[in-house]
Amino acid sequence: MHEEAAPIWQTQVLPEAQAAKPALDLLRDGEIVAIPTETVYGLAGDAANGAAVAKIFEAKGRPSFNPLILHVSDLAMAETVGVFDPLSRQLAAAFWPGPLTLVLPLAEGAAVHPLALAGLQTVALRQPRGFAAGLIGELGGPLAAPSANVSGRLSPTSAAAVQAALNGRIPLVVDGGPAPVGVESTIVRVSGGELHLLRPGGVTAAELEAAAGAPLIRPEAGARIEAPGMMFSHYAPNAPLRLAAERVEQEEALLAFGPARVAGAEKASVELNLSPSGSLREAAANLFSFLRQLDERKPDGIAVMPIPSDGLGEAINDRLRRAAAPRGQG
Ligand code: TXA
Ligand code: MG
Repeated sequence: MHEEAAPIWQTQVLPEAQAAKPALDLLRDGEIVAIPTETVYGLAGDAANGAAVAKIFEAKGRPSFNPLILHVSDLAMAETVGVFDPLSRQLAAAFWPGPLTLVLPLAEGAAVHPLALAGLQTVALRQPRGFAAGLIGELGGPLAAPSANVSGRLSPTSAAAVQAALNGRIPLVVDGGPAPVGVESTIVRVSGGELHLLRPGGVTAAELEAAAGAPLIRPEAGARIEAPGMMFSHYAPNAPLRLAAERVEQEEALLAFGPARVAGAEKASVELNLSPSGSLREAAANLFSFLRQLDERKPDGIAVMPIPSDGLGEAINDRLRRAAAPRGQG
């Protein structure tokens, strides 16, 4: 590849109601656009256009071995890209549109540039709700869209967070308000008729098991990473994170959860409560934006109160462990 001066974009932020046409025009021109989804904001490009896909990797600083999730407007579009087994189809019927991503064998003749798949013969597919699905329907083909953050950093749950991370690198951010789910989609893969969890997310294990009528199989500790993006250090704020904190140390920021007060809370330099009532749904919706807000205050560290690991707590604790992991571990 030859070196060219990067174009200096004036990143525009437009509310959803005004953004459909400009977003579509940009996508048809092979440009990339940040769009709201129910989970987190995505950095979207036409999945069939190699130049658009390359721009996604470049804007995020994402390693090219990490494949992108493809977003579809409906099941019919999904069937042109992935090969569905009966259980995957059942899960799509139960959870789409919504925060579930299915990994499927790549369909023959799928209109997807190989760069988006990082050389894999499988594809990760999801039908989002709302604006994104409408836009994809208009485009007439899948959108590749990873979370709209710089690689390894916190996923954005608002247009302002996208703007802060990618200003000048992309032409347009579509503002759909705060992302209601707040953590990324759950990623699963059916193989040998069994349901495997690749990444916990916005659909809980219990919801999946109820819809599948089968147990959800979690990766064994130390197993090969199946979703290549699940490298250990990820979602990282600048300040070090201390998990399951039983007390707060001087000058730490506090990320609280639930009605109980933790010892030393009065020493915290700043405090936010993910959900004073102890709702995991509310905590998931607030997680990334609260981490970002605490980090902006440049504390010595962030103490995080224990959060239950049932339901959405599995995804919340997964993201917190990655955010706390020593940097540079993959
Ligand atoms: O909620 C979400 O899933 C958001 C919104 C924008 O849709 N997207 C998202 O994308 O979180 P991203 O790229 O940040 O995370 C996608 C994950 C990565 O860990 C990637 O390695 C994995 O999906 N992935 C993509 N294709 C895969 C495949 N064929 N097999 C296994 N994992 C795959
Ligand atoms: Mg991501």
